Amino acid sequence: MGIVHNKTNNTITLHTKNTSYQMKIGNLDYLFHLYYGPTLHDADLSYQIMQYDRGFSGNPYESLGERTFSLDAQPQEFSTQQQGDFRTASIEVVNGDGSYSFSGKAGKFSITDGKYRLETLPTVFANKGDTVKTLEVTLTDSVSDVDVILLYSVFEEADIITRAVKVKNNGKAPIHLKKIMSVCLDFINGSGMDLLSLPGRYGQERQVERQPMTHHIHTISSVRGSSSHQQNPFVVLCDKEATEDFGKCYGFSLMYSGNFLAEAELDQYDQLRLVMGIHPKQFVYEVKPGETFECPEVVMAFTEHGLTGLSHLYHDFYRTNLCESKFVTEIERPVLINSWEAAFMDFDDKKLVEIAKAAKNMGVELLVMDDGWFGKRDDDNSGLGDWFVNKNKIKCGLHALVEQINDLGMKFGIWFEPEMVSEDSDLYRAHPEWAMKIPGRPEVRSRNQIALDMSRKDVQNYLIEKVNAILDDANIYYVKWDINRSLADIWSNALPADKQGEVYHRYILGLYRTMNAIIKTHPDILFEGCSGGGGRFDAAMLHYYPQYWVSDNNHPIDRLKLHYGTSFVYPPSCMGAHISDSGKLVPLKTKAVVAMGGTFGYELDATHLTVEEQKLCKEQSELFRKYYHIIIKGDYYRLSNPFEVGNMTAWQHATKDRQESLLSVVVTNLTCNGPQEYVRAKGLNADTVYSVNDGQYTLSGSALMNAGLPIPREVPEYTAFQFHMKAI
Ligand code: DGJ
Repeated sequence: MGIVHNKTNNTITLHTKNTSYQMKIGNLDYLFHLYYGPTLHDADLSYQIMQYDRGFSGNPYESLGERTFSLDAQPQEFSTQQQGDFRTASIEVVNGDGSYSFSGKAGKFSITDGKYRLETLPTVFANKGDTVKTLEVTLTDSVSDVDVILLYSVFEEADIITRAVKVKNNGKAPIHLKKIMSVCLDFINGSGMDLLSLPGRYGQERQVERQPMTHHIHTISSVRGSSSHQQNPFVVLCDKEATEDFGKCYGFSLMYSGNFLAEAELDQYDQLRLVMGIHPKQFVYEVKPGETFECPEVVMAFTEHGLTGLSHLYHDFYRTNLCESKFVTEIERPVLINSWEAAFMDFDDKKLVEIAKAAKNMGVELLVMDDGWFGKRDDDNSGLGDWFVNKNKIKCGLHALVEQINDLGMKFGIWFEPEMVSEDSDLYRAHPEWAMKIPGRPEVRSRNQIALDMSRKDVQNYLIEKVNAILDDANIYYVKWDINRSLADIWSNALPADKQGEVYHRYILGLYRTMNAIIKTHPDILFEGCSGGGGRFDAAMLHYYPQYWVSDNNHPIDRLKLHYGTSFVYPPSCMGAHISDSGKLVPLKTKAVVAMGGTFGYELDATHLTVEEQKLCKEQSELFRKYYHIIIKGDYYRLSNPFEVGNMTAWQHATKDRQESLLSVVVTNLTCNGPQEYVRAKGLNADTVYSVNDGQYTLSGSALMNAGLPIPREVPEYTAFQFHMKAI
């Protein structure tokens, strides 16, 4: 069905497999939002809108004599500005005449096959075989001659609707955007909802917070120049009774890596408005006559099947429609070892080869040379920007080093932090004007480095040339793209004074251009994103990188929370997870079980491991390979909440055909003479019989899901268990 326009009622309804979304061109040609939720069989829900005289809520001038129509009380697809709607705004624009006003009336609209694309920003895409339709509605302000173009793509099978916004200036004078949101969703009855978000900090990214909606504006945002460790551009609105398995949940995932804002406002009439988009902080964007400004995309999902149901919608969609890299579906990710926690910056070519040789015994397939291989880089005070090999460390040269690793039968990976510069670097000495600094003021340093002005084309071109030269010089299989500070000193030397309000956004546009020119031109390289651990872990970044480093915190018990929180929207297939030395009391087997919650690898000095430990690692690498199709492609279930008091954390992966599953448990707390613990599985066929751990148990899916498996008692601290279930 896709998208249906009902000419009689002037409603437009978007249908996915299990959801409907309805809007109506109504009074005075305003575009009203009527519904988003389970499939709708009725053609017209306009009866939902009740009009009556509302005190202290204005009526638009055009409805003279009509006192019951107030935009302050009408659910809108994209709210107006200065038309008597006092709720949080979708748009704040300064028109050519200096007025702050926008009153968009629905004019033309079109329904077409396929997915829209944005020219300057990454978007999800349709695959062959996906049923996708696009609606484009233009809201025109006839006074200022400004169009707001609303874009909707409906992914029928995936139960996903994407939205984006473009602003076109058809007038004669420039306009200035001060706030422009990508989505505005008005719930007529918004009471009884919770807002779930993923706040955190360095080392503790994407913890989970759930708060009841009360009568104010709840704000989730980042103003750090990037989507940040502190907040993630993803929020959920759900029934306050919603659990993992039951209840209505709405997800909003923003495809943007810069400053973002999500606002959820419960208003005076218990209506709820959700807006999300680029953060207005230091944002003033000029749109000249004839120009169009693009806002990032928001990926929306709805389910009645609780938070797990919502996560599954995002996992499935982001595994297939977000990143075009062949490592997403065609090529299995290698088990890697990363040099960072093994040697930090204190290594040379010989040391790397030794690590690779030892790692080979552990079933490792890829050696990653992390920070420290370039320029003058013995600590983090210098060298960034000088993307040429440090001959004192890599004495044999990059080409020969890669050959030595390849001769061991292993692949080679390399680290970059392209967006940054050290003041002690050749690049900075040659181009101090390329660093972001506010004239006349001392720089704000962080890790003693400064951000390059990514809004500049010459900076972008320099990086494209230098990074591509390294990638093309040797047989590089993998790249880790890092960024290790929040942005401050927002100023561009290349822009005039009145354009400085564009720098935050232009940085991100420049970054995407650079990534396109490096990543998309190297389809055979596996890219992993990183930001001092798992900052900037967002959907737009995952458009470029199939995987992202979850956190610098490798402690396996902390990782339980990190993986749990990240999984609310992002699938395990994109979570970089390694075994490291962190967690001295935690057995190696447990570290492996936890790292198998993601892409699995090592972050330690393999040469320090005993032969026994190397053997154990090899077994774990082989297990990851064996379970790869379950972990990377299966459905993921959060079986327990590591933020709640309990004695263990459990999670599960199950293949789509429910023939195979892997249930993992970590004992996090020992109690004397405690009760017997059981873990109940999910996602199995009730009437299928499964062999658990090759015959340890033979049980039906219903027994496994309803009675559960007993967890052995009296085990050492932090013991982990894996239950592999196979249909027989
Ligand atoms: C931060 C990353 O998260 C680490 O894994 C490592 O790559 C360092 N940067 C290197 O500086």
